[in-house]
Amino acid sequence: MFDLNALANLDLGILAGTARTRYGEIQNVNSGLVEWKAVDGQPGNYIKVLALDPVRHRVDFLFKQDPHASFARHNHVCTAVALTLEGIWGYREGEELMFPGTFSYEPSGSAHTPYATGTGMVVYASFQGSSEKMLEILDENDQVIGELNLDFFAQYQDEMPLVAA
Ligand SMILES: [Fe+2]
Repeated sequence: MFDLNALANLDLGILAGTARTRYGEIQNVNSGLVEWKAVDGQPGNYIKVLALDPVRHRVDFLFKQDPHASFARHNHVCTAVALTLEGIWGYREGEELMFPGTFSYEPSGSAHTPYATGTGMVVYASFQGSSEKMLEILDENDQVIGELNLDFFAQYQDEMPLVAA
């Protein structure tokens, strides 16, 4: 991956010391300055919300799992994409493993249970829906036992962006 040390002597401007800037609808995030937040009710799962756009029903985020952690089985009510940045992970329902550089495209209707191998994992992910509903949480019989909507992600937003002139 990119070597941050190569930037040490460069003047990187405002984002070097500020997690977020905003100019109109344009947002930039220095994700290195955003803290991981533990995901409620999902041990070993962490999130950094990068940008949340309620107008376009979209959320972009980094997602991290500790070694051997799982996330609840769920059905997507949105289009989801994920680019694996670190570690090796998979879905309990499949044989495939994802590793750094793997890109995943998951249309609405995909149901699965993501888990990390012994390496843990970090992905960049983006959900884009047609309403504020993003995921349905499923039990072992595929009955819907909960919903995750944009409000769920909003609770993990750490701070408001700095408005640039
Ligand atoms: Fe998913």
